[in-house]
Amino acid sequence: MNGINKIPKEKINEIKNSVDIVDVISSYIPLTTSGKNYFGVCPFHDDTNPSMSVSREKQIYTCFSCGASGTVFNFIMDYENVNFIQALKMCADIGGIDLNINSIKIKDDTKYKELYDMYEIACKLYQNNINTQYGSLAKKYLLDRKIDQKIIKDFKIGLALNNYDLLAKLLIKKGYNEPFLTDSGLVVKKNLDYYDSFFDRIIFPIEDVNGKIVGFSGRIYKDDPNKKEAKYKNTKETKIFKKGQVLYNYRIAKEEARKEGYVIIMEGFMDLFRAYQIGVKNVVISMGTAVTKEQASLLKRMAKDIILCFDGDSAGEKASYACANELLELGITPKIVRLEENLDPDEYILKYGKEKFLEKIKNPLNIMEFKLNYLKNNKNLDSEIDMSKYINEVLDEVKKIDDDILLELTLRKLSNETKLDIDFLKSKLNKKEKNKNEQKTKVEKKNNNMYIKAEQNLLYYMLISTEVIKMYQKKVAYMPTDNYRKLAREINYFYKENGYINVSDLMIVLNDNIELLNTIKEINMLNLKENYTVEEIEDYIKIIKQFNIEDESKRLKELMIMEIDPVKKAEIAQKILEIKKLENEIGEDE
Ligand code: GTP
Ligand code: MN
Repeated sequence: MNGINKIPKEKINEIKNSVDIVDVISSYIPLTTSGKNYFGVCPFHDDTNPSMSVSREKQIYTCFSCGASGTVFNFIMDYENVNFIQALKMCADIGGIDLNINSIKIKDDTKYKELYDMYEIACKLYQNNINTQYGSLAKKYLLDRKIDQKIIKDFKIGLALNNYDLLAKLLIKKGYNEPFLTDSGLVVKKNLDYYDSFFDRIIFPIEDVNGKIVGFSGRIYKDDPNKKEAKYKNTKETKIFKKGQVLYNYRIAKEEARKEGYVIIMEGFMDLFRAYQIGVKNVVISMGTAVTKEQASLLKRMAKDIILCFDGDSAGEKASYACANELLELGITPKIVRLEENLDPDEYILKYGKEKFLEKIKNPLNIMEFKLNYLKNNKNLDSEIDMSKYINEVLDEVKKIDDDILLELTLRKLSNETKLDIDFLKSKLNKKEKNKNEQKTKVEKKNNNMYIKAEQNLLYYMLISTEVIKMYQKKVAYMPTDNYRKLAREINYFYKENGYINVSDLMIVLNDNIELLNTIKEINMLNLKENYTVEEIEDYIKIIKQFNIEDESKRLKELMIMEIDPVKKAEIAQKILEIKKLENEIGEDE
């Protein structure tokens, strides 16, 4: 969340408490009441049923259909498409709280202040380098590729010289030493010397979602076929640089995407710069990797429509296919632009100009059109074997889409192409659907087995009641499922710090921990009855404990089989006995 670290927690809480989530949400969408909760039609997915519930008590909303869930700030951010600070301001206005952002002591002594500052210093140095005589070759390379001075300035493009310790010396002179030097990822220590991580490369600074420079990507610029260097090199993952959490050009693209209603994903830096040059600025790039959950959730917030415009070659087609599927899994249905003649967007724009390119962008393929083309690759539809394979593959893809109209259109197209009756295709699809559902229930059964249910239910009540938190602390060592264990730890910690528990406050504390926020959403969706009995809680705890014990004894038994040393074998056997005893005790006295 943008800027959340800069505003004192107390202020955020004051603002949250100054409004009531029910009043705020009902000013956007009509809510009806039933019992303690309020219900409305969820604005975050296509729906006509009131699947969103708003709880005055918990001060959160939860959609039981699409899983959207959060605090009043999340609602405003997603509904208004604004960042955290803006949502905070809007709430402060409603609640009549004076939020003079400037008057708030902005805490810039964030945890990683040193690292951010070092990146600023490095960026300035690199930017300066490219404008010196040592940068003339790099500058010429960029200009030859029609990357002009405006782009160089707007994107803070710089140059790491072929001077291995220039940056290290500067940083040390400015007073930085270990552990910051090594932690920053800017330099590498070899023996007693520090080497610049980038050597003789054109540098593209990478900002995080808050606009702070957190990493660099460096491109070679002397195309020397004898040197087998990677074309691009990135900063290693550090405390502040997580490649999967950033989108290059996010800050600019976000504003533009809001205006345009769509955001474009491309593959490379050069593609993005070229688009920018012709005024297409709602572009982010994937920097050559698969889109992560975090990136997808950023994209989802940027605009309603997401367009993939990858390279025109077959690698770009494959990447589009993979990325589209990735996004589909995360609930985003992208559109796809394919460029002819194997051109990448950079080359396409240079060759055909702005108008032609915009025409492509305005007429993207829908996901199924793209997939039909993709699946036809390397197939000869005159051959019955290929044809039957094609039909099956298309139907498998059709199953994934959640859009009746698109489904009908796709089946019609397929019927045309294959000369098979559409009703036949539909019945074949139904058969597949049935199989899929059967498989799904099998998997669900397996996943929702007892101990997972117990963990979930326990967490549900820990989020409501300090009594349950205390029971958990007293009786459970840990939850077996990773995410649940992490969430339990956060709940415990919140309770220890604040002496109470409240799910909406906890969600604010977890502001950028997307993984745990998703876990909370999952738990919110359980929608269990409000009142629990102590016996129920004890039952959950017992189930979890039993699972842990069984799991541990299973682990030990496997260990014993592997162990050769007889003394160690005996030790393990002893441990197994002890655990057995524990197991019996749980069964008896609790
Ligand atoms: P040009 O070849 O200069 O046109 O670069 P481009 O930006 O068009 O890159 P390309 O389409 O070849 O690759 C897409 C993106 O993948 C790049 O912008 C990089 O972020 C990334 N990438 C490409 N090559 C490498 C590499 O060798 N190593 C790493 N780590 N990333 C790369
Ligand atoms: Mn390129």
